[in-house]
Amino acid sequence: MCGIFAYLNYNVNRERRYILQVLFNGLRRLEYRGYDSAGISIDDYFSVSRNPNTPQPSSINSLSSSPLVFRQEGNIESLVKSVYQEVAATELNLEESFTTHAGIAHTRWATHGVPAPRNSHPQTSGSGNDFLVVHNGVITNYEVLKETLVRHGFTFESETDTEVIPKLAKFVFDKANEEGDQTVTFSQVVLEVMRHLEGAYALIFKSRHYPNELIACKRGSPLLLGVKELNDDVCNGSAFHDAKFLSKNGNPKELFLSSDANAIIEHTKKVLVIEDGEVVHLKEGGVSILKFNNDKGRNGDSLSDRPASVQRALSILEMEVEQINKGKYKHYMQKEIHEQPESLTTTMRGRLLRGGSCKAKTVLLGGLKDHLKTIRRSRRIVFIGCGTSYNAALAARPILEELSGVPVTMEIASDLLDRQGPIYREDTAVFVSQSGETADTLLALEYTLENGALCVGITNTVGSVIARNTHCGVHINAGCEIGVASTKAYTSQIVVMAMLALAIGGDTISKQERREAIIDGLFDLPNKIREVLKLDQEMKDLAKLLIAEQSLLVFGRGYNYATALEGALKVKEVALMHSEGILAGEMKHGPLALVDENLPIVVIATRDACFSKQQSVIQQLRARKGHLIVMCSKGDAASVCPGGGCRVIEVPQVEDCLQPVVNIVPCQLLAYHLTVLRGYNVDQPRNLAKSVTTQ
Ligand code: F6R
Repeated sequence: MCGIFAYLNYNVNRERRYILQVLFNGLRRLEYRGYDSAGISIDDYFSVSRNPNTPQPSSINSLSSSPLVFRQEGNIESLVKSVYQEVAATELNLEESFTTHAGIAHTRWATHGVPAPRNSHPQTSGSGNDFLVVHNGVITNYEVLKETLVRHGFTFESETDTEVIPKLAKFVFDKANEEGDQTVTFSQVVLEVMRHLEGAYALIFKSRHYPNELIACKRGSPLLLGVKELNDDVCNGSAFHDAKFLSKNGNPKELFLSSDANAIIEHTKKVLVIEDGEVVHLKEGGVSILKFNNDKGRNGDSLSDRPASVQRALSILEMEVEQINKGKYKHYMQKEIHEQPESLTTTMRGRLLRGGSCKAKTVLLGGLKDHLKTIRRSRRIVFIGCGTSYNAALAARPILEELSGVPVTMEIASDLLDRQGPIYREDTAVFVSQSGETADTLLALEYTLENGALCVGITNTVGSVIARNTHCGVHINAGCEIGVASTKAYTSQIVVMAMLALAIGGDTISKQERREAIIDGLFDLPNKIREVLKLDQEMKDLAKLLIAEQSLLVFGRGYNYATALEGALKVKEVALMHSEGILAGEMKHGPLALVDENLPIVVIATRDACFSKQQSVIQQLRARKGHLIVMCSKGDAASVCPGGGCRVIEVPQVEDCLQPVVNIVPCQLLAYHLTVLRGYNVDQPRNLAKSVTTQ
């Protein structure tokens, strides 16, 4: 749940000031992954300008020839400020130039230990910084490792699980040296460390003993290597392996390691997606890769076999820097809400066919074509996800049941695991995840694979673990989502699942008219979203009225039960206001007791098969003097609220199964404006992070 980043310049002069800037910018790009605390490590090898008599602030460990470590509680800007303050206090020369230098950085979302400098990363092996580690993930056997290391004389300063890693590296290194092996390499040390680690991780190692080298390895958590050759004539499309993939001709180059592409794209589009079990060694401008073939460590087995060197080719990132900037918007969440007409267009591009020679309206999902028959024959389809992704699946469930005729059940990933719920070989399990790396969903995937079901992945992240470990799948192509509250990914997920329903439904004559109406509706959806986005000011005005409320209920049913859950989730996670999505059919069975003239209630009553039932819900709420805000189809104000007296939000009407895509937009806008007006951080809500890579 953290972000890790590293920058290695080889044979190209970079001043300390520049190196710091690259590291800080990398962290800024990754900040959405965690913003409790942050840290970096850079070198002090060739410093000529430092005054040895100047006292060192406590957060700088600066023995001679030792990596410097800076760690700070709070967001990246707090780290930046504190680093420059400490640099000034220690007279560290920012203009000092390094021909080759390796720096590492981390932004943290606390799991083990409160946000504090001692719990921030880089975690170290002790004074002297022999080994330094930045980590994203969780080491599940850290207590056992810690006990062993304590028995060997190590003392621990933090409450983190990570601290065992650099200490273990030092233990391995010292042992090799004691046994007379003065030639132990950095990768040998890390390979040995990896053998002992259980859990999920992406790690970057830096060491005083191996200056200007970095090691990256991973299991479960994501990690990419970016390659920028300054005389870019060698690595274009080349494969590389344990021998230097870039010739040792001293070509100046810059190498970047990052939890995701956001922090790399501004430097280079050439990347390698590091795979589980791989150990990537950056040394002397080269990259060597070793891989454990028996990658079972996540389940607690040790990595016992010998790693082999592997060849990998670089891929080219299909994204642009503009995608990760806020452009004309103040916040990422705002930008992502407003770019939904475009993100939905991209989601559908090349997948919907209308007219042409065959004149048929059809859906093509290339990633599923070989599995459609199996899915149609499934005993049931099981949707599995968490949070917003679960809600998106819930919104799509009715249309999938209707078009496929296959029973569809819903599973929150953690609950499936808690219950060890039944999964059968004849099931199709559909894993929905924006990030493709949510720990609960991943573990549910492992569990489902073990039980033999066909696993389909629906993710926004190409190359993510869920994308790679499922049998087949569909990318939602919503573009990079940076706001912690998911918005555009939600609408794209629903659209992908509607297309999935169409694809599974096949071409039965009886459903042809319905299918074609949905396809027409999909084509027109971006326009409808443009229309509904015009409610921005209206939702801001509504937010002003609700600003001081303690609580907000949202009632929905049918296709829009999911809208109620998702609308309430948005309000609670960013505006920090209690909010609950309630199935309107359940109103009489308890929630009605809460209703009075004070509690604001949003009722979703757009036109569909449940419309008359929602009208009756509204009547019952009004009979109890409920403070109502009703969302209805354009022109329906008088039907939903005869005689006036409730606030009405009119939205464009679309095909019923696509209505949740339209209806969520005013809820997103409301949550956004409420948050800004209440003075909270929209893009970095309290206690949350974008991808939840811990259980
Ligand atoms: C809410 C939100 C979360 C995520 C959930 C699953 O706005 O973003 O509820 O939806 O943590 O994340 P993914 O979709 O990445 O698996």
